[in-house]
Amino acid sequence: MPEPAVVENPDAPDTGVAPLVSVRGLEVAFRVREAGPARWRRSLLNAVAGVDLDIPRGETLGLVGESGCGKSTTGRAILQLQRPTAGSVRFDGTELTTLSRAELRRMRSRMQMVFQDPYASLNPRMTVGESIAEPMLVHGVGDWRSRRRTVAELLETVGLSPAWEERYPHEFSGGQRQRIGIARALVLEPEFIVADEPVSALDVSVQAQTINLLESLQERFGLTYLFIAHDLAVVRHLSTRVAVMYLGKIVEVGGDAVYERPRHPYTQALLSAVPIPDPHVETERRRKVLTGDVPSPVRPPSGCRFRTRCWKAEEVCAQEEPALRPMGDGQWAACHFAGPVGPPPTPALTLPRPAPPALS
Ligand SMILES: Nc1ncnc2c1ncn2[C@@H]1O[C@H](COP(=O)(O)OP(=O)(O)OP(=O)(O)O)[C@@H](O)[C@H]1O
Ligand code: SF4
Ligand SMILES: [Mg+2]
Repeated sequence: MPEPAVVENPDAPDTGVAPLVSVRGLEVAFRVREAGPARWRRSLLNAVAGVDLDIPRGETLGLVGESGCGKSTTGRAILQLQRPTAGSVRFDGTELTTLSRAELRRMRSRMQMVFQDPYASLNPRMTVGESIAEPMLVHGVGDWRSRRRTVAELLETVGLSPAWEERYPHEFSGGQRQRIGIARALVLEPEFIVADEPVSALDVSVQAQTINLLESLQERFGLTYLFIAHDLAVVRHLSTRVAVMYLGKIVEVGGDAVYERPRHPYTQALLSAVPIPDPHVETERRRKVLTGDVPSPVRPPSGCRFRTRCWKAEEVCAQEEPALRPMGDGQWAACHFAGPVGPPPTPALTLPRPAPPALS
């Protein structure tokens, strides 16, 4: 795969340390069949259409956007579970897109995925102990005795009893199954985890517990997360920075400023769905309600992909695609009218952690 054109880093403060994960010009296209006027025709669906991201070691990047905007495909393409059509994914300095299957298999132990539906991701015919131990077997790690010891330790780490290793997934609640999924993801001692809506399928009452678990595991093992979610409150609590995705592209990225001073109309609309107990803010936000459906990624709108739903759209929006531009302090937005370009990002930016979200 050819080396992609050098792109300006749209993301990540300049800490002087290379990010653990660095994505440039990532594209994923699927061949799909569409009903045409007379017969079926083959088309290309551009699920991910040129994504640039950096995730520094030990940080969490939140990835949000409406259903079908390409979040899961981005996560899968970073881990090479879905081979990208174009672009570059560097993990700890190694280009993943050109690795052979065998090389990738060795690399995979360092990168894992936690799925939305913990039941679907666990084999119902395997005991919990077998499920957690399976990646060690596949990668030839340890012997029977050490694998059992690791399973018992991991069950304890995720807050479950080691005595439950002989049980089957159906004997557990949704929250417990997600803990088992997390234990399985941890078994090869990864450095990077893509958590794809890990709490969306859980009861509200157990969402906070699972998030707290992910957070404590991050601290304990120095994990780096790409955290995919719909819920902006959850993303804000867990993430160092957030990237907002629309129809295969990142439209805004940054730290707390994205929540406090969103520059892109799409981010403003997403945030207007989150209630804020301030009547002034509420009045302002009510004008920014999203209408209309997300256009098909097979034939995205020309220029700015958000223009068919944007209340600020002007002629230029149909003609020119807005590039991600720095707004200052690590915030970037892709909108012709996002406002003046700010000073360059502050070096070694550290963002304060917001208070835990009210999840119940
Ligand atoms: N294997 C596939 N073949 C064809 N199209 C696909 C495939 N996987 C995903 N898509 C399409 O790619 C687009 C992005 O899908 P993706 O699952 O990445 O979105 P998402 O943001 O994760 O959505 P959700 O929030 O619903 O999980 C969608 O239009 C989807 O229909
Ligand atoms: S570029 Fe135009 S259409 Fe796109 S978000 Fe900005 S104002 Fe709206
Ligand atoms: Mg998804």
